[in-house]
Amino acid sequence: MNRIFKYIKKYWFLLLISLIFSVFIVLSTLYVPVIVGRCIDILIYQAVDFLKLKSLLISLTITISITVISQWLQNLINNHTSYNICRDIRNDAFDKIHHLPLSYLDNHTIGEITNSIINDVDTFNDGLLMGFNTLFTNLLTILGTIVYMLNINVSITLVVCVLTPLSLLVSRYISSKTHTLFVQQSSLRSDINSYIDEMVSNQKVVYSFNQQENTQNNLAKINSSFKNTAIKATFFSSLTNPATRVVNAIVYGAIATFGGLIVIKNIITVGALSSFLSYASQYTKPFNEISGVIVELQNAIVCGNRVFDLIEQENEYDATTILNKKVEGNISLDKVNFSYTKTKPFIENISLDINKGEKVALVGPTGCGKTTLINLIMNFYPLDSGSIKIEGVDYNTISKDSLRENFGMVLQDSWLKNVSIKENLLMAKEDASDEKIVSVCKKCHIHNFIQRLSNGYDTIIRENDSTISTGQKQLLCIARIMLKDPKILILDEATSNIDTRTEIKVQQAFDDLMQDKTSLIVAHRLSTILNADTILVMKDGKIIEQGKHQQLLADKGFYYTLYNSQFEN
Ligand SMILES: Nc1ncnc2c1ncn2[C@@H]1O[C@H](COP(=O)(O)OP(=O)(O)OP(=O)(O)O)[C@@H](O)[C@H]1O
Ligand SMILES: [Mg+2]
Repeated sequence: MNRIFKYIKKYWFLLLISLIFSVFIVLSTLYVPVIVGRCIDILIYQAVDFLKLKSLLISLTITISITVISQWLQNLINNHTSYNICRDIRNDAFDKIHHLPLSYLDNHTIGEITNSIINDVDTFNDGLLMGFNTLFTNLLTILGTIVYMLNINVSITLVVCVLTPLSLLVSRYISSKTHTLFVQQSSLRSDINSYIDEMVSNQKVVYSFNQQENTQNNLAKINSSFKNTAIKATFFSSLTNPATRVVNAIVYGAIATFGGLIVIKNIITVGALSSFLSYASQYTKPFNEISGVIVELQNAIVCGNRVFDLIEQENEYDATTILNKKVEGNISLDKVNFSYTKTKPFIENISLDINKGEKVALVGPTGCGKTTLINLIMNFYPLDSGSIKIEGVDYNTISKDSLRENFGMVLQDSWLKNVSIKENLLMAKEDASDEKIVSVCKKCHIHNFIQRLSNGYDTIIRENDSTISTGQKQLLCIARIMLKDPKILILDEATSNIDTRTEIKVQQAFDDLMQDKTSLIVAHRLSTILNADTILVMKDGKIIEQGKHQQLLADKGFYYTLYNSQFEN
């Protein structure tokens, strides 16, 4: 509740106005039976006074108009407030993604996270809106009705007050039963989301393994458990309304009988009883509505809690101090230990000095930890023990932004934004001139291709775009890094998708770029790293050999085997 309150607090003024409108709505609604009662009494007990009747009817029209206009304005304000709150929550949730430890993202599917930020926030919004629209007004109606009823007759009021909470008890009982079903329903919805997300983004893999039927069946399974849970939840929650209505009808009957007896004894007039019966039904109506809202609110709270759980995840540790030393490219690792799952040690006791201007290559079989070591050097994951320093400054004492701005990475999977080619390139260097962009693209042998596109450099790139191949995307990423011209260059299988001929050409551009720069290169094609200053040979999370190409070959160790196996044919 506290966390919801944190977001609502900001809009206290709008809520106050909404509350004032609730007061108008309640007072005017409650005044209607009074006027109607007076009209009845004029018609029954006196010679009919049409003038008086006319003025009563005019006040009736005014009163009803006040109700309607206030309701409309209140709705407007409540919509405004609840959408504002949802915007804030969604912004915070999305912002959180940028500050979460990567391990959180490793352990949660993208579908799960998007479901939370999109659907959960929507459901929460619906609940909130409903809460604002009905809770205030209904609570006030209950209070107001009691006051108006006491004004007419104390004993019937007592009868009403004692009997009505029965309907609330019934609805409470039912909603306590349905809560767990709503939790299940909402988690199944998230499962469907993740599953569809995963399958649609991997549609080609699905086709190539002929998995259409399988995936269809799997989805059908989740979908039908969703259906079953949803039907159960809706069925039980929809019992609330009829059950409370039955109780209310009984209450109404009791009051009518009791009131009739009092009218016969001339204690109150027929008009007063008519007002009273209106109140009695008006008094139970808010209980019904509140019970309906409670069901919605429960669902909203379940969804809201999931978003808040995300928002309240602990941020990844980040120091605030900015690295104020001139970065030349000296990095040292000291007894570094790291594991993705704490029970399974992976990187063990790596100590290493990478000096400025050095070209360091990382080689080793798949899964030996090359990318992991790069991840640690980029400070993507916290170490289990040991330390990494840049220019002698411990990573833990400087902010991640100020560290990473010195790095430029090209990875196996290229990451391009859903904007034009030019904007993608400008991401690296906002103020790069057109000439500079073109010259870099020429060096990367991608300029001719871009020029042939219908909109040239302004062509928008889309995810899964087939007008541009994976290798071409990679070339664009390489061009982007060249534009950034970082102090330290990291290439993790950066040319893995490019044909050997283009690779050799791009290699020349890389060699130029690497001049006087520290660079870390991961490559499976060992031919590309023969001239590295140091080759680190990794196996099972450890560096087992280290040296220059010729020297490692002469040692006839693991590298020797690895190298020869590539040229055996
Ligand atoms: N985010 C992660 N969470 C848990 N385990 C991971 C994660 N990333 C990698 N691993 C595991 O760590 C091991 C090393 O992976 P890594 O990506 O470092 O290998 P690699 O040497 O780069 O392999 P490749 O040559 O195929 O790129 C693998 O067994 C992998 O399953
Ligand atoms: Mg890798």
